[in-house]
Parts: sequence; structure tokens; C-alpha cells
Amino acid sequence: MNNSVKILILAAGKGTRMKSPLPKVLHKILGKTIIERVVNTVLKLGNTAETIVITGYKSEEIQKNIQNYPVTTVLQKPQLGTGHAVAQAMDNLAGFEGTVLVLCGDTPLLTENTLQEFIETHKKSGSSLTVMSAVFDEPANYGRIIRDKLGNIREIVEEKDANPEQKAVKEVNAGVYCFEWQHIAPSFPELSPGNTQKEYYLTDAVGWAVKKGLKTHGYALKNTDEIMGVNTQKHLADAVSTLSSTAINRLMERGVSFISPENTVVSPETIIGQGSTVYPGCVFEGENYFGENCTLGPHSFIGGNVKAEDNVKIIQSRVLNSNIGANSTIGPFSHLREGVEIASNVRIGNFVEVKKSRVSDCTNVSHLSYIGDASLGREVNIGAGTITANYNALTGEKSLTAIKDRAKIGSNAVLIAPVTVNEEASVAAGSVITKDVPESSLAIARGKQQIIEKWVEKKLKTIYK
Ligand code: UD1
Ligand code: CA
Repeated sequence: MNNSVKILILAAGKGTRMKSPLPKVLHKILGKTIIERVVNTVLKLGNTAETIVITGYKSEEIQKNIQNYPVTTVLQKPQLGTGHAVAQAMDNLAGFEGTVLVLCGDTPLLTENTLQEFIETHKKSGSSLTVMSAVFDEPANYGRIIRDKLGNIREIVEEKDANPEQKAVKEVNAGVYCFEWQHIAPSFPELSPGNTQKEYYLTDAVGWAVKKGLKTHGYALKNTDEIMGVNTQKHLADAVSTLSSTAINRLMERGVSFISPENTVVSPETIIGQGSTVYPGCVFEGENYFGENCTLGPHSFIGGNVKAEDNVKIIQSRVLNSNIGANSTIGPFSHLREGVEIASNVRIGNFVEVKKSRVSDCTNVSHLSYIGDASLGREVNIGAGTITANYNALTGEKSLTAIKDRAKIGSNAVLIAPVTVNEEASVAAGSVITKDVPESSLAIARGKQQIIEKWVEKKLKTIYK
């Protein structure tokens, strides 16, 4: 007898009802794919020995998506049903004596707490098989749990195979099971595809266990939202909305103000500190952390791996994979593309794009600039319209620009990388800088201004003679 649990996630199906070229479980919910969400949840469970993911349709893509997680993948080809899917793991589970938790890769709302409680209930009951159930007023599409007069589970009947009396049953199969493997494994070679869908149904293992006289148990799910399987685009949207509103409610309880929660989308992995305000039209995907008293939005897209300290403002902007220090302001209309390190008290303003760059304390890039592959020192001022020309379109090479502490760059300067502007140097407005600028010097590289007196007057006379 082994006390640890092995986990089997079924994710080989195409998901025809999604009407999408992507395998169903690779659709994203707030920055993570459906399968990643399920894998993440089961990996949080204690006392698990191995997690096996059954893949089939576009298996390489799914394997790639979950390659950084400690899971084993097993191929199911062709895909002949959920029972056939579990049977593919027979070799991996050969000789295992203990509990196998089976769940579907398309149920991203199941929580770790529910699964933990489900496993504990199963173990306490001493059953060979426990199935998770839920009661729905409109149970369409789910398998129905059929019980005898004494309330004992007899079998599960798929909607497509159900007679009217069975269809009227409101208790449905959530598609999550605990099997005592040594008792249930012998059912798989005995499953048959003699049903409407000509598939090997995992649900038939339940009827098989009952017939063998094995102890079976039903676990009724408390929050029935959790078992929602994503089968259609509508389900996908519902899953996003459920996870987001749960995340927003949790943040509101922790002291974050949402001006219009119904017009805000927040991933479960986003943390926002007390006293912060989120204005309408913001989307937070993936993992993000914001300190206290931040002002976020309106209309900002936070695309994941964003870390911001206290009192940060992000207004009408797009920010991905960046760190922002305390009291810094981003926007309106800024784009921090990726790998951007913004220190404290920095201002990144209107129509400024920043990529793979570091901006030190108290530096301003307030208007109409592109800063790419650059490092900006402290108290630097970047004039409106400054461009770091980091890309050589002929060679495809990218080069670095360094602007050292307290340097001042005049408006509309172009800094052709690789180039360094040293401490306290100035670059004149409109200059194209191709050589390093020494400390405290002025670099000016533009046509000299000429004055041609009375030019307009004379010109007009030649036109209107
Ligand atoms: C299944 C259950 C149904 C239950 C519902 C709960 C069966 C026969 N039916 O129906 O009783 O109410 O889940 O959500 O089990 N898969 C494979 N290989 C296959 C077929 C499916 O890995 O050959 C995977 C799919 O990728 C999916 C999961 O199994 O993640 C469930 O398959 P799906 O076709 O969605 O089953 P349902 O019709 O929802
Ligand atoms: Ca399903």
C-alpha cells in the first residue's frame, strides 16, 4: 500500500466544439493555457508521486507548452475515448498500489482545496473508486450519475446514451475520479466501445466496479462552478470571467479599489497592494505584483511578469515583463515592451516605447521617444522625440546606447548605437550622434542656421510682378 497519489490528466482530445485550430487545452485563460492551469493546480497538492499528462491531438505543441513542469507525458494515438486515454498509462502505473487521481485537462476552475478534500474523502471512505459529482438544474452534456433506490451509485450514463428518465437526473459526473489502482486497473482491458459515440468510456469503469462488488463512493462538489469543462468558446469566456471576478473580489477584500470591476480583467496570479486604485478597461494577464497606493489605468494592458513598487502609476499604457520602482509614472500612452528595468521616481510619458533598457532614478523620458537596448543613468533628461537607433537593418545587428548620469539629450536627437553619452554631457536638439560624447561636453551635429534677410519679401515680388 502506497500512501502517495499519482495523477492522470486527460488532454488528448481535439476539442472539436471549440472550432479552433488550437488544441482545446492550449487556449489561454488570463495568460496561462488551460492545461497549464490544471497542471499548476495539481502540482500544489501535497503527497503526490507523479503527474502524467495524456496527450494526443497536436501532442508536440502541448508537450512544449508544459515542458517546464515536472510531469510525464504519454501519447494516446488514436484517441478512442476517455477510458482508452487512461489505459495508455497502464505501463507507467504497472505495479502501483495506491490512489490515482484522474481529471480532465479542460477543467481549469477546479481548485487545489477541492482536490485535496476529494482525495482525503476518498481515502477515509476506504472505497476502491470515488467519483466527483455536482447537481445542476440544467445538466445538459454531462454524464448522469445513476443511483439505486438506496442511493448507491450504480453507473454513469453519458447524455448521448441516456434514456429520458436518465436524462432527467440532475446529478452529473464532474469527470474527476480517485481509483485504488490495483482494484480498478483490471477494468480497462474490459471496457468496450458499444455506445452511441463508439468510444471507450472512462465512466464505464464505475459500472464495472459496482458489478465487481467493489466499494464506490460519490463526493458532491460544493462550488459547482469549479467543474466547468471548457468545451466551447462560450465556456472559455465564462472561465475567464469566473477566474477574473474571483481575483477582483479577493483584491477588493484586501483594500484595492476597482472603479468598474465589470470592466476589468484580472488574472488569479496578480497581486495588488492596499490603497491602490484600478480604473476601468485594465487587463492583467499572467503573474504580476504591484505595491501599495498604485494607480492603474484606465485602459492599461499588463501582460505578465510585471513587478512594480509602491505609488506607481500606469495610465493608458501597455507593460510587459518589466520592473518599475517606487513613485514612477508610466503613461499616458507608453509601451514598455519587454525586459525593461525602471528605477524610482522615473517618468515615462506620452508615446514613449521602451525595450530591453534600464532607466535609473529620477530620469525623465516624457514625450515621443524610442529607447531600445539602452541604459540611462540617474537624473537624465531625454528631450521630446529622441530616438536610440539600435537596429542596423542591413546586418540585423542591434547595438547598445549608454547615457550616463545627469546627461541631457535635446529634442529630436538620434543616437546611433553603439554610442555613449558620458556624465553631464549635453546633446543639442536635432543632432544625429554617431560618436561618443565626453563628460560635460556639448555635442552638436546639425546644419548651422542661416538667416537670409528679406527673403520672403523678395520672393513674393518675383511671383506678383
Ligand atoms: C466527460 C465524461 C462525462 C463528464 C464530463 C465532465 C466520459 C465518457 N464522459 O465528457 O461523463 O460529465 O467529462 O466534464 O468520460 N480525452 C482524451 N482522450 C480521448 C477523449 C478525451 O484524452 O480519447 C480528454 C479530453 O482532452 C478532455 C477530457 O478527456 O480533456 C474529457 O473529454 P471530453 O470529450 O471533453 O468529455 P466530455 O464529453 O466532456
Ligand atoms: Ca469536457
